Amino acid sequence: MRALILTGGLGTRLRPLTANLPKPVLPVVNRPFLEHQIGDLRRQGVREVLLATGYKPEAFGRALGDGRRLGVKLRCVHETKPLGTGGAVRNAIDFFKGTTLVLNGDVLQHLDLGAFLKRHRSLKAEATICLTRVADPTQFGLVELEPSGLVRRFLEKPSPEEVTCDTINAGAYLFEPSVVRLIPPGVAYSLERGLFPELLKRKRRMAAWVSRGYWLDIGTVEKYLQAHLDGLGGEWPLPLKGLRRRGSFLLGSGATLGAGAAHEGPGRVVLGAGAKVAAARFSGSVCLGPRTRVDAGAALTDCVVLERSHVGKDARLERCVVGRDCRVGAGALVGPGRALGDGSILTAFSR
Ligand code: GTP
Repeated sequence: MRALILTGGLGTRLRPLTANLPKPVLPVVNRPFLEHQIGDLRRQGVREVLLATGYKPEAFGRALGDGRRLGVKLRCVHETKPLGTGGAVRNAIDFFKGTTLVLNGDVLQHLDLGAFLKRHRSLKAEATICLTRVADPTQFGLVELEPSGLVRRFLEKPSPEEVTCDTINAGAYLFEPSVVRLIPPGVAYSLERGLFPELLKRKRRMAAWVSRGYWLDIGTVEKYLQAHLDGLGGEWPLPLKGLRRRGSFLLGSGATLGAGAAHEGPGRVVLGAGAKVAAARFSGSVCLGPRTRVDAGAALTDCVVLERSHVGKDARLERCVVGRDCRVGAGALVGPGRALGDGSILTAFSR
């Protein structure tokens, strides 16, 4: 099976974290995000992956190489100008030899590919959309179904009184090559607002399948943090290879945990390779990147600190994300929902 992953977006909602790295390769628990997603696909038989790149394409090769390390053959097709989700699919038309999986590159999800394919084939669909259930669908594009499992209609970001179902587009699709040929070549075009309504208008067979697996769109700071908290809290299977366990701490190679460092659960604390932690206090789930430093007396609650950053003495981090190469001065406070861009310096006692 082959998979095309859409990875060309600017990731504006996740700024400043995406100022230097595209969202699909931002580290999630110290591995490029796509490594988690490709690992899940590899375990289900996907062997070839094509990335449709746009923003900062060189970052993908640096983070993922040619895919050999992940057990897949990985290539990129680059867009010199953004073509949107549909235009990116059309641009990769040569990749579509048979039924092909298409995925958004910013969704952390476990897809049961066998069940997804079974639905696509049993309904003889040309396109099948994966759906997921959410508690508040008003932020999303809703997808209404016929009892047969075919799509009836799409509703973009409905008001509460318009909500008729809780199934939303999960950002994963199965396409036959015939569907891709309907997309106009060389122009910006959207799958959601262009191709899908067009398929309905032309009465082509478009099915849907509701996934019950874990699903999270990591597109905002809050959701990016949530991906970490869920992984460390056991909501999705975190690869633990290469990590040593010390109680609820997981240590990468060369990481050191000082006497007096303490953790209050639930959750776990990960120290990336070469991280150095003194007598600091942790609560909930915390991810420290490679070569980070946390000084004595610091208190970290449900947060992420990316590589080479330094958290000074008695500093406090609460439900926030600290980018790469930052310095959080002694006694400084970073509060809930905050994200520091790479290289930020917070002087002592800043809030
Ligand atoms: P925001 O700017 O925060 O909305 O993020 P985004 O740019 O990633 O857009 P969005 O979350 O809507 O995109 C969904 C998926 O499609 C992401 O994986 C994007 O990388 C990808 N994507 C969006 N636009 C394009 C595009 O023009 N070309 C390609 N190749 N991929 C795209």
